[in-house]
Amino acid sequence: MTTPVDNAAPNATATPSSFPIPANVFALTVQDVKHYTDRLFRFRLNRPDSFRFRSGEFVMIGLPNAEKPVFRAYSIASPFWSEQLEFFSIKVPNGPLTEHLQKIKVGDTVLMRKKATGTLVLDALLPGKRLYLFSTGTGVAPFASLVRDPETYEKFEEVILIQTTRLVAELDYARELVAELKNDPLIGEFSDQLKFYPMTTREQSEHMGRITDTMRSGEFFKRTGLKKLDPETDRAMICGSMAMLKDCAAMCRDFGLVEGANNAPATYVVERAFVD
Ligand code: A2P
Repeated sequence: MTTPVDNAAPNATATPSSFPIPANVFALTVQDVKHYTDRLFRFRLNRPDSFRFRSGEFVMIGLPNAEKPVFRAYSIASPFWSEQLEFFSIKVPNGPLTEHLQKIKVGDTVLMRKKATGTLVLDALLPGKRLYLFSTGTGVAPFASLVRDPETYEKFEEVILIQTTRLVAELDYARELVAELKNDPLIGEFSDQLKFYPMTTREQSEHMGRITDTMRSGEFFKRTGLKKLDPETDRAMICGSMAMLKDCAAMCRDFGLVEGANNAPATYVVERAFVD
């Protein structure tokens, strides 16, 4: 006898009824998909009423296309108050999850483990005046959540979102988000507190180069009029590739910042942009 499991094509996003959904997993419906480049896309899922998270945290995402689905960590890009859950993803050629995930359409089912966690949360930082958010490509996702959370602006006078990508089009997701923020009824009033500093390394744009180089040389501070990072007033969060995390964290330490965690808040925190 042929079961629904046997019928499921390996790369299909099957309905949740094809496989049993474990008790620690939500089966959510895709409500929106937008492709930015051939490497980047965003998707939004319905948010279950019982799901709680802190802005900046991540969850495990999978597809109901196998009895033991592949799960990968994804930062939630939407803020805690949003009715939808937004994710910003890379498309990895032959990636066990993203190869299939990049094909999802409105109405498809995506699996999400129920527990959210992570260190890029306001609780992991000591109070300060200025919050620096350092990111590359999809590393901007947790910050997309934090810059849409009113608490971020209640805790910090100034929020500086820095994203470095190879190409100009890879900045579109964050550019769009920052532009929309101004008209948002809940957080529009805080938009003057947010500064966006987009950079590219392999295509011409207004700000070229790696953030570590422009900060260490002082060029960043000259261009923005901001003072050098100061552990008395400045806090930082970092999200990117392993190499970028290592170099940005070393730079923060050289400016006198100290790494913090949920149970030991300090002056900077790091998290890997997971899917690569
Ligand atoms: P570069 O083009 O000089 O490698 P990736 O797509 O490899 O994750 O990189 C995203 C962006 O982050 C690129 O602009 C890249 O610059 C930059 N980047 C990569 N590694 C580092 C690093 N160790 N420190 C700072 N920026 C980095």
